[in-house]
Amino acid sequence: MNVSAAESGPLAFDPERALPAAAYREPEWLAAEKDRIWHRDWVFATTEDALETPGDQVPVMIGDQPVLLLRNQARELVALSNLCAHRGTLLVEQPANAKRIQCPYHAWTYDEDGRLVGVPFAPSGAVDRSAHRLPSYRVESWHGLVFVSLEQGVEPLARRFTLIERHVSAAGIDALQHQSDLQLSETWACNWKVAIINAMESYHLFKVHPETLEPYTPTKDAYYVAGSARATATGGTFKGQDDYLLVSLPPSFVGVLTRNSFVWQAVRPVNAGRCAIRTGGAFESYRRAGPFGQIANWLTRAAAAAYPQADFLQEDKAICERVQRGVTGDFLPGSLVPIERVVRDFGDSLTWRLNDVEPPRARD
Ligand code: FES
Ligand SMILES: [Fe+2]
Repeated sequence: MNVSAAESGPLAFDPERALPAAAYREPEWLAAEKDRIWHRDWVFATTEDALETPGDQVPVMIGDQPVLLLRNQARELVALSNLCAHRGTLLVEQPANAKRIQCPYHAWTYDEDGRLVGVPFAPSGAVDRSAHRLPSYRVESWHGLVFVSLEQGVEPLARRFTLIERHVSAAGIDALQHQSDLQLSETWACNWKVAIINAMESYHLFKVHPETLEPYTPTKDAYYVAGSARATATGGTFKGQDDYLLVSLPPSFVGVLTRNSFVWQAVRPVNAGRCAIRTGGAFESYRRAGPFGQIANWLTRAAAAAYPQADFLQEDKAICERVQRGVTGDFLPGSLVPIERVVRDFGDSLTWRLNDVEPPRARD
């Protein structure tokens, strides 16, 4: 059976159970995750509205690699190394709009395909320009979510997310407008997997969020829709509204989709015991609806700000950091209960990527 290979591998664990504490503290886990997941697979970067206009440039981090996302003059998304090919200076540190990329150190200049087109004070032939092209990476968008892979050979996103595609489309994601200007970042003192697993499962709502979430989206009404090592959709009732759909895209992304909002959380490892958490969302918007567009857009932002996200996120931060405070010790990893099936899918995704074990078949 597939699981046995994972159990005998260097990063052994049983996907039917919780992860061992070692997974949250040992440097070899983080090194393997960076090598085999963060630097070799699709990682969420930002939302497409951040790159609306040709020339838009947005710096992002993919694992430890600084990457520059840009919208070229042909309106395609491009992902390049954000490190100058001369002496490695960070090229772009703030979102910008320009046709070229110029290094702030010695003004080496690159075009939107990463070709070196300018080297000041270098006699012709002194620098082999073709040998100093900025490396480019895979970049694709899925319903306005932009993902980057430093490795070229990954499967297309349409294949990666095929199992949950119809559920996400049917829930109306394309009627919403991503608002990258509402993204917020903070650092949590926990391993990245503690944070993302917590975001995926609805088991803890009744205990961790008794006032902020449980009254609206109770644990007892959460259910599994479809899932695999590649992606999982779960759902639940939302008092007074249509059911919500919770979309889990390992390794880094979880979003809650309703008729009028898609609020998401993305994670990135900082070190074994710290991670960066970014939140953002897509909302109903009237941005292009004529003369009242600006006012309506302001109202949309106000509604977004009023979302109780901030409260429940601090509750999640507190419980995740509490888990991390215990990881110096060891425990016998406990059983996952049926409502945590999405955690099993996440375990399968780790096994697949870390130990090269083909994931089990999809469940729905
Ligand atoms: S480091 Fe970029 S031009 Fe010198
Ligand atoms: Fe939570």
